Order: sequence, then structure tokens, then C-alpha cells
Amino acid sequence: MNKPVPHSLSSFDRIVITGGSSGIGAALLQQFQNLSPDFRFCNLSRSPVKDSFPEGHILSIPCDLADKESRQKALVRCREWLKAEDRGGKILLINNSGFGGYGEFPSPSTDRNLSMIEVNVAGPVWMTGALAEELKSSKGAVMSIASTASFQPTPYLSTYGATKAFVLHWSLGLSQEWKRDGVQVLCVCPGPTETAFFKEAGFKEAPLKGGSGQTAEEVAKIAINSLAKGKTLVTCGVVNKLVAAGAGRLPLTWVTWIAASIMRRLRLERFQNS
Ligand SMILES: NC(=O)c1ccc[n+]([C@@H]2O[C@H](COP(=O)([O-])OP(=O)(O)OC[C@H]3O[C@@H](n4cnc5c(N)ncnc54)[C@H](OP(=O)(O)O)[C@@H]3O)[C@@H](O)[C@H]2O)c1
Repeated sequence: MNKPVPHSLSSFDRIVITGGSSGIGAALLQQFQNLSPDFRFCNLSRSPVKDSFPEGHILSIPCDLADKESRQKALVRCREWLKAEDRGGKILLINNSGFGGYGEFPSPSTDRNLSMIEVNVAGPVWMTGALAEELKSSKGAVMSIASTASFQPTPYLSTYGATKAFVLHWSLGLSQEWKRDGVQVLCVCPGPTETAFFKEAGFKEAPLKGGSGQTAEEVAKIAINSLAKGKTLVTCGVVNKLVAAGAGRLPLTWVTWIAASIMRRLRLERFQNS
């Protein structure tokens, strides 16, 4: 049975997400679907959404956010979908797609680092800019998935951490700019979360121990509750909140040194095999 939809979310009818094909994105889709059968979903990612949805409830548009031509094509289809599914409700855009890469810069390659910037930074800016008119006229919302890596430099994940710092600052800035248009802008900062992220980023093992690790379902629940409460920023989990608050009190050079000594211990599988 569906849980009651929080009043503040009941006025949404269309949800556009990037990266709903796995991990946190897939959990967000599932939980929104469990909240109300009235939501309609449009997903943009390279592979389609795996979970089953009632017929006509979801459109999966193939999209490589690192490729300008691919995302432009996907946008045309997404706009058509937004018009076709318009029942006078609000639009929620979830900027979730993203990936990281562990290693000494520029490992594994400068191109891979640049792709990361395209997906993690240009992706949200492009999606949000392209749908700005629709978001404002429906008085909708933007949820962007940043990370606890947003709060301090992350040696051995330097480009990734910097992309997430961008998402945090950009999202908070936007939350003030779009307030008068009635658009809620929420930045979600998960800590280590059990998804394909770590394998994709080249970690041998996901660093989920020590109380900071969460499941994708836990992160999705926190994100949706925070959206319903009208928040602009949420750090997921008590331990992550404490670590983020602690990091903010130390000089940046100290935090960077501490982060480097922790990150150095997380060896790449291919280093161990060599
Ligand atoms: N897991 C963590 O510990 C953690 C912590 C903090 C923040 N985050 C952030 O949470 C978000 C979701 O990650 P996740 O943990 O759920 O990892 P995941 O399971 O690997 O999911 C990543 C998603 O991003 C999509 N994506 C990757 N490259 C893409 C591209 N070129 N074009 C379009 N979509 C692309 C993937 O879809 P396709 O492969 O189908 O394209 C996939 O759906 C990311 O922004 C990540 O940085 C994760």
C-alpha cells in the first residue's frame, strides 16, 4: 500500500531524473513511485531503468551526459514528454548522474577527468538551465546530488571532490536566486553509500565502515523528506553531519592533509595486482 504523500509533494506530477538506472537514482525513483501512483517519470542515462513501473509511468531516454549532442537530443524528447504529461502540476528535476575516479591525477586519464566534469558539473547546469522556464512556470523544484566530498578537498579523488564542491555552492546560490520564482532548490550531500559508485571509481572495497556508510534507500528517504520539508541543504546521516561540521572548523590545508592520509590507505585494485 502507498504511504500518504506529504502535502508539499502532492502538487508535483512530473519528475525528471538523471541516472535513474542504478544506485541512489533508482532508489529515488522507487520511493517516489511508492509514494504516489500519480507521479510520472522521465529518466536520462546511458542505460535504461531496470525496475518495473506500470505501463506509461516512465520514459527512459538514452543520454550520455558527457556528450553534448546526446544530451541535446535527449532534451528535445524530454521537453515533448513534459508537455504530453502536463496535468497542471509541478516539475521536479533531480540532477543525480555522476561518477568519480580514484588515483593520482591525471590517472586514469585527463579525458576521464574532463568527462567527470561534463557529467557532474556541466550535466546539472545544462539540465537546470534548459528546463529553467518550465521549472519556474510550474513553481517546481531542483534536487541535486552532491556529496560530503563537497565540504573539503579530496586528494586522490581531487577532480571528483571539486565537481561536488561546485554542485554544493552552485545549488545553494541558485536556492536564493530562484526563491522569488517559487522554485525550491535542494542540495543533497550523501556520505559513502552502497552503490556501484566505488567499483566504477576504481576502489577495491567501498569504505562503508565506521558508521558513515548508508544504503541508497536510506539516502533516497532522507532526500525526499528534506524536499518535503522545503530544505535547501541536507547532509545524510549523523556521522556524516558531524564529520562535515568538524571539517568546516579546521583550516583547509589541515583538512586536506588529513583527507590525503585517509585516502592514501584506500588502494586501487590495479595497484595491488601490479
Ligand atoms: N555512492 C556514494 O558513496 C556517493 C556518495 C556521495 C554522492 N554520490 C553521488 O550520487 C550520485 C549517484 O551515484 P550512485 O552512488 O548511485 O552511483 P551509481 O550506482 O554508479 O549511479 C550513477 C548513475 O549516474 C549515471 N551516469 C554515469 N555516467 C553517466 C553519463 N555519462 N551520462 C548519463 N548518466 C550517467 C549512471 O547511469 P548510466 O551508467 O546508465 O549512464 C547511474 O545511473 C552521483 O552523483 C554520485 O556522485 C554517491
